Amino acid sequence: MAGRFITFEGIDGAGKSTHIPAVASHLRERESHVVCTREPGGTSLAESLRNLILHAPMDALTETLLIFGARRDHLQSVIVPALARGATVLCDRFTDATFAYQGAGRGFELDTLSRLERWVQGDLQPDLTLWFDLEPALALARAAGSRNPDRFEEEDLAFFERVRSGYRARQEQRPERFVRIDAAEEKRGVEEQVIAALKARGW
Ligand code: TYD
Repeated sequence: MAGRFITFEGIDGAGKSTHIPAVASHLRERESHVVCTREPGGTSLAESLRNLILHAPMDALTETLLIFGARRDHLQSVIVPALARGATVLCDRFTDATFAYQGAGRGFELDTLSRLERWVQGDLQPDLTLWFDLEPALALARAAGSRNPDRFEEEDLAFFERVRSGYRARQEQRPERFVRIDAAEEKRGVEEQVIAALKARGW
């Protein structure tokens, strides 16, 4: 694939979404085509599924299948065509979130997730994953007061401890593409770490 695929991960409240515009403008100074998107979502079908995933009560298997269904549509309609054109795709969450939230968080079988991953995306993996890591207690304090919490934001500290350990396990399995960002720093310090991770790859 000609383009580059960069994903942004972390528990709710870690602040990853705040830093996507800075990455986009850093890369746009160097290359013409940057696509910003998110999961679940990124297409009209996947955004409709997102609304259900975030708000409709369902079991972990249904949740997982809907997330991979949304991902399949997003890959086919947006991500793969953009990468084929040589664009850089910045995606707010991707399959590492499924291993962290549905796998570690909800306790869904990791072998089944690996099979679905392979089935839905083949060999495609991010070139770089920026993992915004923060103590769940701090992240929950930051996220507190969000007006209309979704099904994930309603979860307790123990859930986010498991999600964090799920991300840590993915990082340990795939150190070549994962960069851990210390998200406890001030916004400026976090942004410096993010830009340093891009520059380290010559981007
Ligand atoms: P999030 O990026 O937190 O959206 P927002 O910042 O608008 O709240 O994503 C929504 C939620 O979706 C988040 O709580 C994690 C969850 N999620 C999963 O559980 N599994 C997945 O595979 C993905 C992509 C997201």
